[in-house]
Parts: sequence; structure tokens; C-alpha cells
Amino acid sequence: MSENISKPAKAAEKEVVLSGIRATGHLHLGNYFGALSKFVRMQHDYDSRYFVADLHALTTSPDPSALHENVRNIVAEYLAAGLNPDEATLFVQSDVPEVSEMYLLLNMHVGIGELMRTASFKDKARKALGINSDSDDIEKEIIGTDSNKRVNAGLLTYPTLMAVDILIQKAKKVPVGKDQEQHLELTRRFARRFNSFYNVELFPEPTNFDFGGKPVKVPGLDGSGKMGKSEGNCIYLIDDEKTLRKKVMRAVTDEGPKEPNQPVSQPVENLFTLLELTSAPEVVQQYRDAYADCSIRYGDLKKQLAEDILKITLPIRERVIDLQNDDVTIRRILARGAEQARETAAKTLAEVRHVMGIRRF
Ligand code: ADP
Ligand code: TRP
Repeated sequence: MSENISKPAKAAEKEVVLSGIRATGHLHLGNYFGALSKFVRMQHDYDSRYFVADLHALTTSPDPSALHENVRNIVAEYLAAGLNPDEATLFVQSDVPEVSEMYLLLNMHVGIGELMRTASFKDKARKALGINSDSDDIEKEIIGTDSNKRVNAGLLTYPTLMAVDILIQKAKKVPVGKDQEQHLELTRRFARRFNSFYNVELFPEPTNFDFGGKPVKVPGLDGSGKMGKSEGNCIYLIDDEKTLRKKVMRAVTDEGPKEPNQPVSQPVENLFTLLELTSAPEVVQQYRDAYADCSIRYGDLKKQLAEDILKITLPIRERVIDLQNDDVTIRRILARGAEQARETAAKTLAEVRHVMGIRRF
């Protein structure tokens, strides 16, 4: 057998997986089930690269000291949840300056119309402008003179930057939650457009990854559809036991089923969804059956849910506390990660520059 065949696959031969989370606060169960737990499961089998998106955070949260703290916290939470810097490349987005240059270049092939039609842009612009209606006619408000400080160009070009994060590493798989699928669709579109405009095969078209299942949407405890930092309805990985129990016990429910097999209301279905993510299938079935025959007590369901969530989050919390003040370890890991991420990024950027005609004399 030749030496090449007998050696285990080197990182460079494995498929590249890339994902990141914005540095806008501590990580919650939505981030964990939508993204981080997948990062951990994938790290050994793929050439995995995970980063903290600090530049993306600037589009909505430009507070310098909060940003720096958030980056540190997320790195600590990545490590505490089981990411291993010997298996995966861990880095901070702004430590790879090639990303910013390619962002400028790719923007030349992105239309402002398609960016303005992106759902996440419309949501964030509406929030920034204080518009409550679902009306699509926000263009006029955005162009209005008073909007220029509140809806910045970084927010509009957010999908370009995200596409660059992915394309510069030539990633094929991008584990993210359901809410990011439109951004991934745009990334594929930009990759196709670039390849075809220059008649090259530079970028693969990346897809979401969910171990064969459907991408999850973790619901909030307030009866709303999505757990999210800006929704104020989160269970954080670093919540202490008392806080976490209190949050779960206060979760919105309804008056309880009045007749057998009654349809389940949204807030109660949310609790079942959380139970499905955190508890054993028999436990979930037991509560589903109790709902169907009207014997369910929501208090018991919540106690069970809090218990099962704590089994996941408490060990993570303990490791976060150990790591949070260990800047030496964090600095070492991030320096190595940045070096590894920049190696690929510099190669891709050189190709992009060449293809676009930016060449040295
Ligand atoms: P947030 O929505 O709280 O601001 P981010 O936008 O930074 O969080 O999301 C980081 C990652 O976590 C993305 O992959 C996103 O899809 C995932 N994610 C966030 N919230 C949820 C949720 N409620 N359910 C599933 N995945 C989620
Ligand atoms: N937009 C993603 C979010 O809000 C974060 C992100 C930025 C990302 N760049 C990325 C995710 C590249 C995957 C790949 O969660």
C-alpha cells in the first residue's frame, strides 16, 4: 500500500464546513440547537472552520466594549460546548482581513434590489425605523432623509459579507438554523453569478447541513415562534440553575385541554418542541399522551423540561466560567485559528483578484 493511501485523510482532503455566530450577546438554546451542537458533531468528520462574526455584529450593535466582551464570551462558549481547537479551526472574522477586501469585490456583482428584498434586511430596517406594519413599502422610508443614521449600508450588504465568509473558504456545508436559509440561497446565487460572469469554476454552491433532518427553529418561552436575542425570550447556556428554572416555570401556556385530542395551541406546542430537543422520546410521548387524554399538568411538564435543559446547559456553564477569564488560552487558540483561516482566504482572494483583472505589473 502506498503511503498516501494508508494515511488518515488530512484536513485538506476533507470537505470544508464553515459557520459563524454574530457577536451580539451570550449564546442561547436557539444558537445551540440551530448551530453550535451541529458544529460540535461535525468537527471531526469535516475540515471544520467556525468563527465569531464580529463585523456582522457591527451592523446592529456598534458598542466597542460590548463587542469585545461578546467576542470573548462566544469563544469561551464555543469551547465549553465541546469545540476542540485541535479538530476545528476557531477564529474571529475580523482577524481575516482578506474577507473585507473580497466583500468589496463581490459587492460589484450584487444588486441593491435583491439586497433590499431580503427578509432579514426588511425586518431589521423596519425595527430601526420603528415601523410596525408588515407593509413591503419600506423603500420610501429608507430613502427618506431621516433614515440615514438608522439603516446603514452595512446592514444592506450583510448577505454579501456572509457569502464572502463562506466562499472565501470554499465551504460546501454551512450548518445554520432555518432563519439563515435565505442568506444561504443568496450565497449560492452570488457564487453561480460570479462563476458564470467570469466563466470560471471558482466557488462551490454551499448548502445547509442537518444530519439528514430538517433545520430546526427553536421557539421562545413567551409563546412566540422563535427564540432570539432581540426577542428577549431566551434561555442562555450560561443561565444559573435558579434563573433557568424560573424562566421555564414562567413560560406561557394556555388553560389546558378541555376535551380529548384537542389541537395543541402554539405556546404549548413550543414547550413540546423544546422537550423534543432536550428529553428522551419516551418522556415526550408520555406528555403528549397526557395532553391527549387531558390529564396533563403543565407544571410537571415545565419541571421536567427545566431538568432536562439543565442537564445540557449546566456542564457548559461550568466550563464557560473557567474559560471566561483565561485570555491566554483564548488568545493562543484564536491566533492559530486566524493563521489557518487566512491561508485559504489569501489563496481565494488572489484567485478572485486575478479573475477580475486586478493584476500586478
Ligand atoms: P440571534 O437570532 O439570537 O440574534 P444569531 O442570528 O446570531 O442569533 O444566530 C446564530 C446561529 O444560531 C444561526 O445559525 C441561527 O440560524 C441560529 N439560531 C438563532 N436562533 C435560532 C432559533 N431560535 N432556532 C434555531 N436556530 C437559531
Ligand atoms: N448571519 C449569520 C447569523 O446571523 C451569522 C453568519 C455570518 C454566518 N457569516 C456566516 C453563518 C457565514 C454561517 C456562515 O446567524
